[in-house]
Amino acid sequence: MSHNTFGHLFRFTSFGESHGPLIGCVVDGCPPLIELTEADLQGYLDKRRPGQSRFTTQRQEPDQVRIVSGVMTEEATGRQLTTGTPIGLIIDNVDQRSKDYGEIRQQYRPGHADFPYDAKYGIRDYRGGGRSSARETAMRVAAGGIARKVLEGVRIRGALVQMGPHKIDRQRWDWNAVDDNAFFCPDPQAAREWETYLDGVRKAGSSCGAVIEIVAEGVPPGWGAPIYGKLDAELASAFMSINAVKGVEIGEGMAAAALSGEDNADEMRTGNTGLPHFVSNHAGGILGGISTGQPIVARFAVKPTSSILTERRSVNRFGAEVDIRTKGRHDPCVGIRAVPVGEAMMAIVLADAFLRHRGQTGAPATRWPFPRPA
Ligand SMILES: Cc1cc2nc3c(=O)[nH]c(=O)nc-3n(C[C@H](O)[C@H](O)[C@H](O)COP(=O)(O)O)c2cc1C
Repeated sequence: MSHNTFGHLFRFTSFGESHGPLIGCVVDGCPPLIELTEADLQGYLDKRRPGQSRFTTQRQEPDQVRIVSGVMTEEATGRQLTTGTPIGLIIDNVDQRSKDYGEIRQQYRPGHADFPYDAKYGIRDYRGGGRSSARETAMRVAAGGIARKVLEGVRIRGALVQMGPHKIDRQRWDWNAVDDNAFFCPDPQAAREWETYLDGVRKAGSSCGAVIEIVAEGVPPGWGAPIYGKLDAELASAFMSINAVKGVEIGEGMAAAALSGEDNADEMRTGNTGLPHFVSNHAGGILGGISTGQPIVARFAVKPTSSILTERRSVNRFGAEVDIRTKGRHDPCVGIRAVPVGEAMMAIVLADAFLRHRGQTGAPATRWPFPRPA
């Protein structure tokens, strides 16, 4: 199986399955001399870790990351620095329960990757979805932690803006509230309402979808590339590669279709920072595939968790019709734990874009405004 690598100059390759002994990744292309310890990555992994509230799967994985290559402690200072060589990261799987999956060995769970994996490879790791499990996303979060270290001055934050049919009130958006509730919700009132809603969904053995918004501030103008390397295209690819994601938007996204040209095109004035000031940000910080210096704003929608307690109709690998009730431990709304994963993918795309921009132009900072001809 190929396609386990993401990125160009800053690239990572992940490996491992849901119920194997461990998962891991190799991050290649990280510049040397960046201070990096396991503690730098653990905080992000703890945000994604399962079993932290009644609203996420009860699988208990400590997700302790180990850095096994690519760093060295500098004798003079005692600081652990990247060496420019591949950084190997490992996380042990400690709470696999394969017996939950015995029954579905030969059956295809609706909404899961079981059938297409079998049809493609003729063999499938049925334990927790094997490679198609979102357990793999822990490695993206770890790699994303390294990407953030490459991105000095860039702040990446994510939030859940819709749970099932219930949207936040954007007037009440408060970034400080995001870590004060179980949903990474920026609207404290919506978070309280979602508790009741998701408790109902969970107790009914059902599930719901969600929309996640990721914002990157401090990205200078110039990152990204034209045509086939568009920053928005790379972000869409990154978010779409996350399990259960079915839609991606940049800036105004689908809603742009309903706006007029007057309303949608972001007007510009001379700013007082030396860069143009955009009066609005319908573009989501990207024009022509290249960053404008405005915040980069992206959203993605995740579908409702497919593993639910209600019996569903399906078929098995011998072509017989069966009824399936998915046992095991599951997230009633996978959107919650997708927030740190989305942040990580934003960081990975931006770190890669930054290094390629520096590689081509030699300059991390913008050279605008250009001198007037004499
Ligand atoms: C953080 C995270 C956790 C997930 N946990 C579950 C889960 O507990 N049960 C489930 O049915 N799907 C879960 N998923 C989604 C499945 O992995 C995914 O739907 C499945 O592999 C099919 O792939 P696709 O939806 O991307 O087409 C999760 C997704 C994410 C991002």
